[in-house]
Amino acid sequence: MATTDLSSLKREAALCALDEVRDGMLLGLGSGSTAAQFVELLGERVQSGQLRGISGVPTSEKTAQRARELGIPLTTLATTPRLDLAVDGADEVDPDLNLIKGLGKALLREKIVEIHADRFVVIVDVTKLSPRLGTLSPLPVELVPYEVEATRRWLETLGCRAEIWSDEAGKPYVTDNGNYLARCWFAGGIADARELDRLLADRPGVVEHGLFLDMATSVIVADRSGIQRLERRA
Ligand code: A5P
Repeated sequence: MATTDLSSLKREAALCALDEVRDGMLLGLGSGSTAAQFVELLGERVQSGQLRGISGVPTSEKTAQRARELGIPLTTLATTPRLDLAVDGADEVDPDLNLIKGLGKALLREKIVEIHADRFVVIVDVTKLSPRLGTLSPLPVELVPYEVEATRRWLETLGCRAEIWSDEAGKPYVTDNGNYLARCWFAGGIADARELDRLLADRPGVVEHGLFLDMATSVIVADRSGIQRLERRA
């Protein structure tokens, strides 16, 4: 799909999520290009006075900076431990609404913020729907820089090809938290996401990973024929 088409689909999904925002809400503000559209639209409504008394917890320095520029009041989980609503994009969405996130390099803060939300609404274009996680995109994993090659090698024992995510000069990207990222490709997708979640969570050197299981409350999917809303089964 052409980039302009994708961009307008992302905007449609973002607009739909914006309908859920009410005056006074505490929001989790996602990262990545789709979440950025939501933040822009939110900023417009705050500036025009259509939305009052909202505040947001940003999931990256980039989102925080843009929200400040747009005049969206920011807060922290220390001040507001429960959020009414978090809105963010995703890299992959499976039929049970489990997600891969993190190709925008912000997965750790996203997960920290989004587990504090009463509702976590995911906004995607149709290209993100996947029959099985890992078939469309690599799984990003945030790693401690210390002895990172040893951790990368361990990741490959899980059945993937793991690369430290680096720029063109071969320098590892550094996250907002001062860590590195690996991208893990699983041929044919991830066979057992829950088991992988458990193994990654237990491993020293792994800070967090991009499997967001049982977290999305609903997923708003935009395609050329309109908006589809998928709700998590109770
Ligand atoms: C950011 O770290 C990610 O989790 C994004 O939400 C995800 O990569 C989707 O990004 P796009 O909206 O840019 O596709």
